[in-house]
Amino acid sequence: MTSKPLIALIALIIPCATQAQESGASLYQKNCLACHQAKGQGIPGAFPALAGSAFVAGDRTELLATILKGRGGMPAFAGSMNDEQIAAVASYLRDDWNGKAGAVQAAQVAAVRKGGNAVQYSQSQARPNN
Ligand code: HEC
Repeated sequence: MTSKPLIALIALIIPCATQAQESGASLYQKNCLACHQAKGQGIPGAFPALAGSAFVAGDRTELLATILKGRGGMPAFAGSMNDEQIAAVASYLRDDWNGKAGAVQAAQVAAVRKGGNAVQYSQSQARPNN
């Protein structure tokens, strides 16, 4: 009678293994490398460096808002990447290239996604609550 728990365990492990394959590194290569370059060094004058970047290592909300909404010549990724994918790529940038600045959780991406512009512009565009 051990087969049921075993099946439940396998059912838990398989989705985890599938997710792990889509690592932050491979997501970066697919979505970001063309502009920001293989080692995140960027191209001076065109694409900012993401390695050794105070912006990337700094406030998570600002970083996530940039990836979700895009900025200047950078496209928005809110429509093409889900919360887990954006968390994975942001964690990769922070921990692999910016001295273990700390991982980002999918829940943090979800919060910034929901917040819309409120996080960035709450001071200059504050609206009265009714
Ligand atoms: C088509 C080119 C292009 C792609 C693809 C692209 N970016 Fe960018 N990115 C830019 C440009 C251009 C800027 C500078 C925008 C500006 O001047 O405000 C930028 C800015 C940024 C910044 C802010 C850096 C800073 O110091 O202010 C971050 C973080 C960033 N990109 C992350 C990413 C991530 C993560 C991806 C992939 C999911 C990505 N970018 C994909 C062109 C791109």
